[in-house]
Amino acid sequence: MSGIEFALGPLTLLVIVVAVLAVVLYLIPIPLWIAAWASGAYVGLFTLIGMRLRRVPPTTVVTARISAVKAGLNIPVNDLEAHYLAGGNVMNVVTAMISADKANIPMPFKRAAAIDLAGRDVLAAVKMSVIPKVIETPRVAAVAKDGIQLIAVSRVTVRTNIDRLVGGAGEETIIARVGEGMVSTIGSSASHKDVLENPDHISKHVLSKGLDSGTAYEILSIDIADVDVGENIGAKLQIDQANADKQIAQAKAEERRAMAVALEQEMRARVVEAEAEVPRAMAEAFRQGNMGIMDYYRMKNVQADTTMREAIGGAGDERTLRWNREAFSRFRLRPRVLVDVSSVSTETTVLGTAVSMPVLVAPMAFQQIAHEEGELAMARGAAAAGTLMCLSTVATATPVDIAAAAPGSPRWLQIYVFRDREVSDQVIEQALETGFSALVLTADLPVYGIRHREARLGFEAPEDDVPAIVAARARGGEDDGHHSLDLLESGLEWGYVTELRERWNVPVVVKGLVTAEDAVLACEHGASAVVVSNHGGRQLDGAIASLEALPEVVEAVGERAEVYLDGGVRRGSDVVMALALGARAVLVGRPAMYGLAFGGDKGVSQVLEILREETENALALLGCRSPAEVTRAHVTRA
Ligand SMILES: Cc1cc2nc3c(=O)[nH]c(=O)nc-3n(C[C@H](O)[C@H](O)[C@H](O)COP(=O)(O)O)c2cc1C
Repeated sequence: MSGIEFALGPLTLLVIVVAVLAVVLYLIPIPLWIAAWASGAYVGLFTLIGMRLRRVPPTTVVTARISAVKAGLNIPVNDLEAHYLAGGNVMNVVTAMISADKANIPMPFKRAAAIDLAGRDVLAAVKMSVIPKVIETPRVAAVAKDGIQLIAVSRVTVRTNIDRLVGGAGEETIIARVGEGMVSTIGSSASHKDVLENPDHISKHVLSKGLDSGTAYEILSIDIADVDVGENIGAKLQIDQANADKQIAQAKAEERRAMAVALEQEMRARVVEAEAEVPRAMAEAFRQGNMGIMDYYRMKNVQADTTMREAIGGAGDERTLRWNREAFSRFRLRPRVLVDVSSVSTETTVLGTAVSMPVLVAPMAFQQIAHEEGELAMARGAAAAGTLMCLSTVATATPVDIAAAAPGSPRWLQIYVFRDREVSDQVIEQALETGFSALVLTADLPVYGIRHREARLGFEAPEDDVPAIVAARARGGEDDGHHSLDLLESGLEWGYVTELRERWNVPVVVKGLVTAEDAVLACEHGASAVVVSNHGGRQLDGAIASLEALPEVVEAVGERAEVYLDGGVRRGSDVVMALALGARAVLVGRPAMYGLAFGGDKGVSQVLEILREETENALALLGCRSPAEVTRAHVTRA
């Protein structure tokens, strides 16, 4: 037993010694103690042992302290150990303090530890306060007052504000504030150009707002890194607005249009209704004496919708056309009073034919331009009014048709002589066979007058509907492409009057003279009557008004022939004035044509009836009971 004891004794002892040594060396980090002592950062042995016991790694604390002391900072071991125990990064704090010290930034241990414990990288913060950091904002889009969008990027140079590092707002806040500042600065600029030309205005403005207050940073500068012109937001908005306005306007217009259509339909219905009333109303007005031929004439102007109305103008400047009408103002009627006019008649005779009034219907070509029934309706209308109609050679109906349309009514045939005489002869023959009682030779159309108005309006006569023209063409007559009336003879002389008279054995009337000389010649060549006429101002513009010419013709003719007048007769007083100046009757052209256009045969008879009533009235007021009683004494020059 004592041998084993002897054998184990030294070994056990050795083990124990080694174990004790190991524990001592663990508890007392001798090398660390020596290193600290050697570097002037003395740490007591018991302090080191205490650290071990408090499970604080002495190496961390001692190394940090050595670094601090070496850098001239005396940081108590207790502070370091306490910081460690609080969960701080001891080495980081010490390094930060050393850096701050070198940069002359006051950084006591307490502040550094607090920053570290607040979770900020105190070392980075210190570095940033020494070397400022540049933060770039994202692209910020803003719209200037002129509507142009600008997209800008700013570089914000910041330095850490150590004092505010604890509790101060971070980098994101700076970016957000700078972005907002940029938007408001651009937005308050009158023009995007202002911003482009002076981008520093943005930075100055943003800087002046003290955007870094309450943050952990101090903004040193803001620079606009880049500015791009974006969209023209203003224009875009304007376009959007314009589109919206347009849509509203369209909707409103559509509404108005719908209303207008409805209104138009309503008006149309009213017009149709009113039109239906017109003949009745007019008849009533005529009966009551409320309407004269001029009213009718004007109404026609309003209502006629055929080109005829416009087209039947005069020649040249239409002076003669005007003068025809004006001439009635150059004479004055001399009424006689206290004459018994309790019974007045407008009836008279022309070349022995009885008519209800001294008003006849003048020959007019192409009457289908006024009404589809043309001359047929004109004949019926004249017959209804009890007067005579003179059918034109270039009518859209044949003499046979007229005779059938108004059997028994008085009618004459107006003659244009075709170069192919055979054509004229056939028309005359047919007329005379069907009851036409006189031939009216139109003498004032050796050639066609210059009628600008017709040309301007592109008036085209319905030549193909004129049997005489169709016949002339069928027989090879040429109309040298100018006008169908070029088919007519322009070489006629006075002898033709005699020829007509002798060949056809009916009275011949020469129509279209305005001089005493021609009137005499007409009589000498066998004319039974003359019509003082300038073709309604449609031939020689500047020719004397027919009423002005009437007295000399009447005087020249004497009792040898009857004298008629046409041109500008529109009223009963015009009729009696012509009678007073020596005419036996007058012819009316346009009024009858308008009546025809307006209401066919009824329109014609209405027009003629107006004239008859007015003539009757004028006769009575003139002191005459019949046309025969009207004398030269009833008129004087104005
Ligand atoms: C449209 C029209 C066509 C005419 N056609 C002829 C015709 O074919 N033959 C003729 O001798 N006179 C013709 N004339 C002239 C008329 O017979 C008459 O002399 C003239 O119209 C009278 O003038 P006023 O229209 O002022 O009443 C025509 C007149 C018009 C207005």
